[in-house]
Amino acid sequence: MQRIILVSNRLPINVSFKNRRIIIEPSVGGLATGMSSVHKFYETKWIGWPGIDFENTDFSLIDDINRELTQRNCVPVYLNQKDLDNYYFGFSNKTIWPLYHYFTQYVVYEESYWESYKEVNMRFAEKVLDYVKDDDIIWVHDYHLQLLPKMIKDARPDLQIGFFLHIPFPSFELFRGLPWRKEIIEGILGADLTGFHAYDYERHFISSVRRLLGYDINLNQINLDNRIIKIDSFPMGIDYNKYHKAAIRHQKVPKTEKTRIGREIENRLALSPDTKLILSIDRLDYTKGIANRLKAFEFFLGRYPEFHEKVSLVMLCVPSRSNVEQYQLMKSEVDELVGRINGKYASINWSPVWYFYRSLPFNSLIDLYVYSDIALITPIRDGMNLVAKEYIATKTDCKGVLILSEMAGAAKEMGEAIIINPNNYGEIADALKTAILMPLSVQKEKITAMQIRLKRYNIEKWTKDFLGSLTNTMIQRSKLATKELTTEEELKLLDAYRHAKKRILFLDYDGTLVGFKKQPELASPDESLYKILDTLSLKKGNEIVLISGRDRRTFTDWFGEKKYSLIVEHGVWIKSPDSGWKLIEKTNKEWKEFIKPVIEFYVDRTPGSFIEEKNYSLVWHFRKCDPDLGNIRAIELKDELTSLIANNNLEILEGNKVIEVKNSGINKGRAASQRIAGNSYDFIMGIGDDWTDEYLFEELPQSAYTIKVGMVNTRARYNVDTFNDVRKLLKKLSDINIK
Ligand code: UDP
Ligand code: G6P
Repeated sequence: MQRIILVSNRLPINVSFKNRRIIIEPSVGGLATGMSSVHKFYETKWIGWPGIDFENTDFSLIDDINRELTQRNCVPVYLNQKDLDNYYFGFSNKTIWPLYHYFTQYVVYEESYWESYKEVNMRFAEKVLDYVKDDDIIWVHDYHLQLLPKMIKDARPDLQIGFFLHIPFPSFELFRGLPWRKEIIEGILGADLTGFHAYDYERHFISSVRRLLGYDINLNQINLDNRIIKIDSFPMGIDYNKYHKAAIRHQKVPKTEKTRIGREIENRLALSPDTKLILSIDRLDYTKGIANRLKAFEFFLGRYPEFHEKVSLVMLCVPSRSNVEQYQLMKSEVDELVGRINGKYASINWSPVWYFYRSLPFNSLIDLYVYSDIALITPIRDGMNLVAKEYIATKTDCKGVLILSEMAGAAKEMGEAIIINPNNYGEIADALKTAILMPLSVQKEKITAMQIRLKRYNIEKWTKDFLGSLTNTMIQRSKLATKELTTEEELKLLDAYRHAKKRILFLDYDGTLVGFKKQPELASPDESLYKILDTLSLKKGNEIVLISGRDRRTFTDWFGEKKYSLIVEHGVWIKSPDSGWKLIEKTNKEWKEFIKPVIEFYVDRTPGSFIEEKNYSLVWHFRKCDPDLGNIRAIELKDELTSLIANNNLEILEGNKVIEVKNSGINKGRAASQRIAGNSYDFIMGIGDDWTDEYLFEELPQSAYTIKVGMVNTRARYNVDTFNDVRKLLKKLSDINIK
C-alpha cells in the first residue's frame, strides 16, 4: 500500500505544558477527528503544527516533544509568535475563514498577513519535500494551506497531490473581493484532485476557476498543459463504529465508573427525571450560530411556557482562536445570553441552560450524546458539521431527534432531520416543540434511515473514494502520456522528415500555431511564426498548408503573399501559392438568411458574444462572455439550430468557444484528402487542437504523423501540451538542412 503524507495546519494532537511537563491532547475540530481515523488505518505521516509557539518553548523540551510526535507518526512544522499572529490568526482566521463563511463584515485584508501566509506555506512545502518518497501520495488539508499544492507540484510534478477543503467555498461574487484570489486558485489547482464536502462548494470553486483563469472545465475536469485536474465533492463521513460501539459500552458502565459529566447529568436527571435534554456542541465560533441558538431557545421558552422545567439546553462550547477579537466578543455575548435566560426563567430545581466552556475528552462527549434527547445544531454556515453525524451514530436505541441548520453541509445528506433556517427563531422554536412531541416510532424511523447512510458512507469509504479518484486521475493522465510525443518519437519524426523527398504539412492555426485571444482578430501571426513557416515553405520538396476555419479575408491579409497553401472555412476554399482562391466544394448560402436572425437573437441576449459571417458559414463566438452564461446559451443555440437545420444539408460545428453553421460534408479531412489525392507524398503531417481537426486526423493516411495539441483523447497518433510545443517542433523541422 502506498504511504500517505497528510498535511494540515494542525496536527491531530496538541502539545501544551504544565509545570515543565509536556501534555499531549487530541486536537479539536472536524478535520482532526476525521483525519485521525485515516491516520490510524493507513500508513501515514502527518505533517503539521503541534500547537505551540516555538520561540517561547523551553528548548530543553524540544527533543522530548519530537520523540512524542515521532511515536505518533507526526512531523512538526514549528511556528513562532509572528507566524501565529499573521499566518494563523491573521490570514487564515481573519481573512479566509470569515470570507469563506460569508461573514464579510469580519474580513480583514492585510498585506503582512498575506506575506506570512505565503512564507509559512513555503515552509510546509519544504518540509513535505524533505519527507516525501517517490511513491507517496500527498494529501493537503484545508484553508490554511491553499498555496501548498502548487508549491509542491512546481518542485515535483511527478507526485500525486490531493487537496481537501473542510470549509465552504464561497460564491464567486464574494471570492472576487479577495485581493489574492488568483494566487489562491492557482495554488489549489496544483493538486491533481481537489475535494469539497458539498456540490455547492465545488460549483462555486469551478465558477471562480473559469472566471479568474479562463480555463475550460469539462464537467469537473480541467485539461491543463500536461496535466489532468479533477474537482469533486466527497461529503466526509465519520468513524461510525467507533461512536456506535462507544455508546453501547457507556450504557453498560456502572454509575461509579461514569465520566464526571455523565454523573453530573444523572444527578440532575434524578431531581427531574422527565426533563428532556437538548444538546448543543461546537467550537465557540461565530459561524456556529450559538448566540442565535440561545436567542431561539429563549424565544421558545417565551412562546411555549408549558415546557418550562421540562427541557434543558446542555451547551458545550469549546474554546477556539481566542486571540481573535470576534471570538472574544462572541464569548462575552454567549456568557451574557446564558446569564439572561437562566436569570429570567430558572427555578430552584431547574436551569434552562447548562453551559460548559471547555473541551471534553472522548468518553465525556459520548456521555453527552447518549443522554441527549434532541440535538440542536444551528450553524449560520458550516462546511460539514460532524457533531450532527456523531450524535446520530450514538443513538443505539434509535431514540432521539436531530434539528439541523440548512446551512450545514451535513444537511444535504441528513434529510430526515428537522431542517431549520438558523435565523428564524420562530421556526426553531416550533422545531423544538415538534422534536419534544415526536412519537418514538417516527424518531426510530428517521434515525434508522440516517444511521444506514452514515454507516455505509463512513470515513473509510470517504477516504477510499477520494484516494481512488486521485489514482484514477493519475491513470487517465498516464494513458494520455502513452501518446505523448516523447523525445524518442520526435527523433523518428524528424528523421522521416529529413529522408523524405516530397512532404506536406497540414497546420491548423488557432490553438495550434498561436494561443487563443478574447477577440480572434488579435491572434495575428507574430514575426517568429512567420519566420518558421517561411523557412519551412521555402525548403525543397515542402508544401505547407494552413488549414483553418478562418475566413478568406483574414488569411489573405495575413498570408496572401506567402509561399504556403491556404485552406479556409473548414475546407470550402483553397489558395495555392501565387494563385487566387478557388472553391473546393460547391456550396449554397441561401440558408444564411433564415439562420442569421436566430444567431443574432443570441447575440442580443448574451453580452460579449458576436456573430462572424463567412462566405459559406455563420459563426457565433462566445469566448468573451460570462463563461457560465456562454455555455448555457451555447447549448440553447445548438438545440434551436439542430431543429432548424434538419433537411437543409447543413451541419453544426462546435469549436473552441464557437458554434458554426455550415454546409454539411465539408470539413478539413475532406479538403486535405483532395489535396493529397494523386500526389506521392512520402511525409505527411497534420497538427490541430480542436475537434474539427479530428476530421483531418481521420482522413490522413495511417502513416501520417498526426498530432493533437492538448492532453485529451484523440484520433491523432500523438499528443503535445500546447501550441508552444508545436512551434518548437516546427522550428526543429525548419532547422533541418535539406539537400
Ligand atoms: N469535539 C471534540 N471535543 C470536544 C468537542 C467536540 O473533540 O470537546 C469534536 C467533535 O467530536 C467533532 C469535532 O470536534 O468531531 C467538531 O467537528 P465539526 O465538524 O462539528 O466542527 P468544526 O469544529 O470542525 O468546525
Ligand atoms: C475547523 C477547520 C480545521 C481546524 C478546526 C479547529 O474544523 O476546518 O482546519 O483545525 O476548525 O480550529 P483551529 O483553529 O483550532 O485549528
